Amino acid sequence: MSQAAFSPAADRNKQAILEVLQQLLPAHGRALEIASGTGQHVAWFAKHLPRWTWQPTDADAPTLNSIDARIAQEQLANVLAPLLLDVLSPVWLPEDTPAFDAIYCANMLHIAPWSTCAALMQGAERHLAKGAKLITYGPYLEESVATSAGNLGFDEALRSENPAWGLRQLEAVQTEAQKAGLQLAQRFSLPANNLLLVWTPLLQTADAAA
Ligand SMILES: C[S@@+](CC[C@H](N)C(=O)[O-])C[C@H]1O[C@@H](n2cnc3c(N)ncnc32)[C@H](O)[C@@H]1O
Repeated sequence: MSQAAFSPAADRNKQAILEVLQQLLPAHGRALEIASGTGQHVAWFAKHLPRWTWQPTDADAPTLNSIDARIAQEQLANVLAPLLLDVLSPVWLPEDTPAFDAIYCANMLHIAPWSTCAALMQGAERHLAKGAKLITYGPYLEESVATSAGNLGFDEALRSENPAWGLRQLEAVQTEAQKAGLQLAQRFSLPANNLLLVWTPLLQTADAAA
């Protein structure tokens, strides 16, 4: 079996993210992770939210071997075998897959083409259960918040590596979310100028008002 890959950044930010998830999520449920990468986040969350079942996924096939290795190494019974899932694919999962109580996606939008933003929002809208949340995490640019020197440098480095990459403007992400029927419901500032954002179906506002 392959070795589990390791990301120092994922190791640094997993606890701060978990602390917000612990506030946001009910005691049990089923979560879909998009762009799982090394699997460090899903492993940490599965360990500390043991009544949740986690479905890791990634668009990169070799990455799935690393996630598999991590699940085996950490003996996590509540993490399902990772699935190949490219958000740009019009079909994410088999039609009979039950809706998820949470969908989580960290650090993908800036390291993938802009089209993945609309695709993420539309796919999440298709696969979220009623009352469920899409949670995204990563660095963003915001009109009303001065961009940190660190994020400016990171944005430049990303764009020079691949012109299709780069930090995303939160207002533009909100526009794509709205087109897909989602709205920004909560915003948490996390260390190192990252944001954890909670997106919920637009319908819930109408439901609440009814
Ligand atoms: C920087 S890593 C983030 C990994 C992990 N979520 C974390 O925060 O440590 C970005 C991940 O996005 C995945 N990715 C890129 N394009 C994607 C797409 N179109 N659909 C799904 N995943 C994608 C990559 O394969 C990679 O694993």
